[in-house]
Amino acid sequence: MKRIGILTSGGDSPGMNAAIRAAVRTALQKGVEPFGFYHGWRGVMEENYQQMNTISVGGIITTGGTVLRTARCLEFIKPEGRQQALRSLNHLGIEGLVVIGGDGSLTGALKLYEETGFPVMGVPASIDNDIPCSDYSIGFDTAVNTALSAIDKVRDTAYSHDRVFVIEVMGRRNGFIAVDVGLAAGAEAIIIPEIPYSLHHISENLRAMRERGKKSSIIIVAEGAAHARDVRDTIQEHTGFEVRYMVLGHMQRGGSPTAHDRVLSLRLGAHAVECLLNGETGKMVGVRGRDLVTEDLEKVLSSKREIDVSKLNLVNTMSV
Ligand code: F6P
Repeated sequence: MKRIGILTSGGDSPGMNAAIRAAVRTALQKGVEPFGFYHGWRGVMEENYQQMNTISVGGIITTGGTVLRTARCLEFIKPEGRQQALRSLNHLGIEGLVVIGGDGSLTGALKLYEETGFPVMGVPASIDNDIPCSDYSIGFDTAVNTALSAIDKVRDTAYSHDRVFVIEVMGRRNGFIAVDVGLAAGAEAIIIPEIPYSLHHISENLRAMRERGKKSSIIIVAEGAAHARDVRDTIQEHTGFEVRYMVLGHMQRGGSPTAHDRVLSLRLGAHAVECLLNGETGKMVGVRGRDLVTEDLEKVLSSKREIDVSKLNLVNTMSV
């Protein structure tokens, strides 16, 4: 390959810039021209790109967001959109694509590969950490730490006022952020989409805790399980305690990536380019333990990442 494309797509996540930097500099080191497409698949379809060099990725290792911008491109979901993308790629002489994003972006990459045979390599990036076949996706660690630092502050005021706080974190289909944040924040209860819950039961536990002398509590709710405001209303009604709620929202997607996310992003971005140049395609790079791995996108996207129930049990053991 003489020329490859790089794009970020779907919801952004801290560390995407470090992955772009790694992909660009690895390509350059191997004598390959890297082209960065703007706004994900839309940029490919519209030939909206920049030829990248080592300077164009200077100073971005510390920044959240993505210098290539991102989008959820509805046109690319249709076969005509993918044919348009293929025409653009051929026109520009691009011979392979590194796709940095979550399950929607990787599904687009797989479809393009299956329909046209165009070489693609996925890099898992999503604060949700819901992409199978990699222990971590880019941005999860930063999002958890961002949420945690906000919740630690809330705990101070919850304690002073003897209040219960219900805090909503991101995760529309799963509770990976909620579980790690809840565990690290010392939450008294965690509500996630994967596990049935009872607000009556949680309220009874809060009462019992208060009788034992614990006056303030934190409840973490994943956005896909319930709205914090509704949970607040019900718990307040059941217990008579003073309950406040807070929705952390998109702040969890921003900010400077943690060291963990930077190292992960650099390793995955570089590995994706190396694999693509070695002729691997239709795959996603990932990390398993200390090892970098690759897995067929078909397998990644037909698998499901499960919640670690032992972490939830630990929350219950801790929240006495
Ligand atoms: O998939 C990442 C994510 O941040 C989810 O946790 C959240 O539900 C969703 O994206 C929000 O999407 P948008 O930025 O389109 O509102």
